[in-house]
Amino acid sequence: MANLAGKKIVLGVTGSIAAYKAAELVRRLRDSGAVVRVVMTPAATAFITPLTLQALSGYPVSQDLLDPAAEAAMGHIALAKWADLVLIAPATAAVLARLACGLADDLLTTLCLATTAPIAVAPAMNQQMYQASATQHNLQTLIQQGVSLWGPGEGSQACGDQGLGRLLEPAGLVAEIEQLLAPRNDLQGMRWLLTAGPTQEALDPVRFISNHSSGKMGFAVAQAAAARGAAVTLISGPVALATPPGVHRVGVTSALEMSAAVMERVQLQDLFVACAAVADYRPKSCAPQKLKSGEPIMTLTLVKNPDMVAQVAQLQERRPYTVGFAAETEQLARYARAKLLDKQLDLICANDISRVDQGFHSETNALHLYWSQGEKRLPLTSKSQLAHQLIDEIMQHYHANYRP
Ligand code: C5P
Repeated sequence: MANLAGKKIVLGVTGSIAAYKAAELVRRLRDSGAVVRVVMTPAATAFITPLTLQALSGYPVSQDLLDPAAEAAMGHIALAKWADLVLIAPATAAVLARLACGLADDLLTTLCLATTAPIAVAPAMNQQMYQASATQHNLQTLIQQGVSLWGPGEGSQACGDQGLGRLLEPAGLVAEIEQLLAPRNDLQGMRWLLTAGPTQEALDPVRFISNHSSGKMGFAVAQAAAARGAAVTLISGPVALATPPGVHRVGVTSALEMSAAVMERVQLQDLFVACAAVADYRPKSCAPQKLKSGEPIMTLTLVKNPDMVAQVAQLQERRPYTVGFAAETEQLARYARAKLLDKQLDLICANDISRVDQGFHSETNALHLYWSQGEKRLPLTSKSQLAHQLIDEIMQHYHANYRP
């Protein structure tokens, strides 16, 4: 399918053993209708020849910032302006570090500074290099700057190690590019209801009980679903995030308010995705005036909040397909499966919040999905990419098993 017809892609190839996969990536991109110009770093040429990528792309490969002949044909600024997308695949730890610092010390990094096109990186490196705090810090910086992070995948590595750091397969990368440049409309006609963020449970007019949820994962799912054509209602607790384009946002503060907002709308929906970190308990009463300090010990009486996702999953009529989340610090599988069963959910997305790279405020996340007959891991990636992968999974189950 020529989903990328006429799209202009600069493919940056850097010095990783996975550089050989760039050859297949160029072929697949051209099969999808894209025009590809390849930029290689000197280290990349030790792994794959420029001639190979020239033959496959149909254009000379650009290598040097200060090459008069190359500058005359298509200089780095012209290339930066030409691109609809700059993708660096494979992206080494070194190029990520240089990009995160804003260095412009070779053709590829200069081009990245000079372009207004979206930039995506597909890391490939040894798993320990990937986990290194400097690399993680650089990735967070790049994501905050709007760079898309695609992968890495998990598995056996060329060096013999096992873990995260494999370049995504070319087919997966093409799918990511298509989603970015030629978005799907596969959720057209569907109604999605989501909850996101924390709730705040008032103790008195100035204090409340809450949690660390940033709302990022729920907002990312809402944004991705709306981009794919769904009519999305997002019921959000207090968070510092902008409403994603096309999403109808309903702001709430407490669990009781969130519950009322959910129950009012839920029976009109095809899907309910409960991403919110709802306070399980609220103070039995909220003091009308500010509580005075003085006593050495204070006792609070808390009462249970309604469990929205369980109430929705147990609806007898017009029950939407229901997805819950489980943020756990230990025994992920055991607790997630117990919640799936107890709450009678269709799918649960378990999240290991004890890890620094997938905590509440992190830009990246990984999920382990469980349903009655199976499970699947979605490895660490940016929350926005993860949102699309999660929607892909949800839709597979929805179409295969769900009869409203
Ligand atoms: O039991 P636990 O709070 O860990 O369950 C998490 C899942 O349940 C999440 O999907 C969360 O949004 C949902 N939940 C809810 N209402 C509550 C508590 C949790 O919908 N009162």
